[in-house]
Amino acid sequence: MEHICNINDIEHESAREYQKDGQPVLVAKFDGQVHAYLNWCPHLGIELNFMPDEFMDSDSQFIMCANHGALFEVETGNCLSGPCSGDKLIPVPLEVRGEEIWLGEVPQPA
Ligand code: FES
Repeated sequence: MEHICNINDIEHESAREYQKDGQPVLVAKFDGQVHAYLNWCPHLGIELNFMPDEFMDSDSQFIMCANHGALFEVETGNCLSGPCSGDKLIPVPLEVRGEEIWLGEVPQPA
């Protein structure tokens, strides 16, 4: 595992992007929990965001793909609406150790 950032580096109900194992990973803080996913939209296999660290929809309720507006549940990565509805973001193993966020090995996209 690798120490990637600290809990306080991420605002509540938002996400930030980090590089791990040469892959872009987003770490989201939502409802007091942290979640990590490969920054890879299952629709076209491209990154979700246009702007750095801009991953949430306007109500900060879902992770949104900026390309075609797919919405993903933050807790599960499930796509709830959009062209990849029923598909999901690829989770990255994550551990919170005190204030520190550690990431495990990043899976390869399918
Ligand atoms: S690439 Fe993400 S919704 Fe199309």
